[in-house]
Amino acid sequence: MSDRATPQSEHWLQRRVGDIVADHYTTAFVFKKYGIDFCCGGGRPLQWVCQKHHIDPNALIAQLKQAIQSESVDVDALAQLPLNELIDRIVQHYHQYIRYRTPIIQQFAEKVARVYGHAHPETVKLLELWQQWSAHLLKHLEEEETYTFPFIKEALKNESFDRAKLLEDWQAMHRRMIDQHQEEGTYLERMRELTDSYRPPDYACRTFRVLYQSLAEFEDQLLAHVHLENNVLFPRFEAMLKRMSAG
Ligand SMILES: [Fe+2]
Ligand SMILES: [Fe+2]
Repeated sequence: MSDRATPQSEHWLQRRVGDIVADHYTTAFVFKKYGIDFCCGGGRPLQWVCQKHHIDPNALIAQLKQAIQSESVDVDALAQLPLNELIDRIVQHYHQYIRYRTPIIQQFAEKVARVYGHAHPETVKLLELWQQWSAHLLKHLEEEETYTFPFIKEALKNESFDRAKLLEDWQAMHRRMIDQHQEEGTYLERMRELTDSYRPPDYACRTFRVLYQSLAEFEDQLLAHVHLENNVLFPRFEAMLKRMSAG
């Protein structure tokens, strides 16, 4: 890997880290990964930071550009996919998103609680809530990937199963997933209350702002994710089982 910037990268190298994060908060996740301070020390230009941390500027800039590209997916297009493919996309996009973001948001929340906890006790409560919620969410993903999704995939490919028994087993599993999704919704409501709908105080530092922006995006992603499971995957699978057990 070369540590020399290409001419096209020059304008990036002159920019200050804090300004890049202010324009595109998702770049904070990249800086965090490299251990680069984008908050109090965010006044340094990227070039200085790369030299200090011995980072290949081209590799870093490539990751920053990638972070800026929208992470959004076309939810309506996903809803049209065959169920097998829909499951794969849910895992690849939404589950991976949660696994990638969760530990970094945790670090942001810890810092904000540490710095602002005295004047803003809600930030300490937010950290506690985040810890409970993320643990719940990660357990839920495990359960879907270990039991729920393999159950659906097996049923889709094996026509010799007893459909009536399958439908009964599925309905118990389905209720469990719906209950867990409802719990996630309750966590979301509490998160919104504690953050005043993700509005930081005017004097909040960059980490505080990035934390709230990250949580707002996390909510959007989770709502789309749960929509695809509750309103598309589960009912379509159940309707298919009912058709087959009646036939
Ligand atoms: Fe899921
Ligand atoms: Fe789920």
